[in-house]
Amino acid sequence: MRKPLIAGNWKLHNTVEQSCQLAQALVNDLSDVTETEIVIAPVFTALSEVGKICTESPVQLAAQNCHCMDDGAYTGEVSVPLLADVGCSHIIVGHSERRQYFGETDHFVNVKARAILKHGLTAIICVGETLEQRESGELFEVIAAQIRGALEEITAEQMAQVVLAYEPVWAIGTGKTATSEEAEEVHAYIRGLLHGSFGTDIASQCRILYGGSVKPGNISELMAEEDIDGALVGGASLKAEDFSAIVRFK
Ligand code: G3P
Repeated sequence: MRKPLIAGNWKLHNTVEQSCQLAQALVNDLSDVTETEIVIAPVFTALSEVGKICTESPVQLAAQNCHCMDDGAYTGEVSVPLLADVGCSHIIVGHSERRQYFGETDHFVNVKARAILKHGLTAIICVGETLEQRESGELFEVIAAQIRGALEEITAEQMAQVVLAYEPVWAIGTGKTATSEEAEEVHAYIRGLLHGSFGTDIASQCRILYGGSVKPGNISELMAEEDIDGALVGGASLKAEDFSAIVRFK
């Protein structure tokens, strides 16, 4: 009932030319895919050109971040309307790298998510615990605070444009994936939180992606879990062959 979504977060990699080459390879490889939603998130400077390549293909465009204001004196920022203008349909917010290196708080994630939803784009909201938090028994408390904080004042209607991504910080770029059971435990917990806040329909419709060292070799096992609806892929999304194999996980 939930359409799987595989998103590639290219992080701070690739020039415009390299991004276009990778996007073109994916558009060629994945042109027949209809059963899985595909999203790629290049660096800001490549969005416009990559957007042109993805037009009329199943590959959709995402930004890795945005500002919450539409325009004004905010030097160095990029707004949701400007990202929509270059073809973005999705925007990632709350990635642990932004939380860790740029001080992004739950409140700020929420303000950005609301700006994204206001303009009719889809917000991919990331949450996840550090190894220290997991080991000290705070896992569920941390996840609940991040989910509640990020979704504050977001309506049940707007939830149709929200995708959540569970990315345990200790599994990002480390080659150390959470086992499918570990991931499912948290995904099921998140769905339970959605059930409490928005009811059964929204909870059962919202897609929850897993992120953290997803590769062609572990995607099928993860996707076999009931509450894992897709993946947010970092390193393995930088190779067309690997990302295509992940998209074709079945
Ligand atoms: O957003 C994706 C991410 O943080 C996971 O990165 O390299 O572990 O797949 P990676």
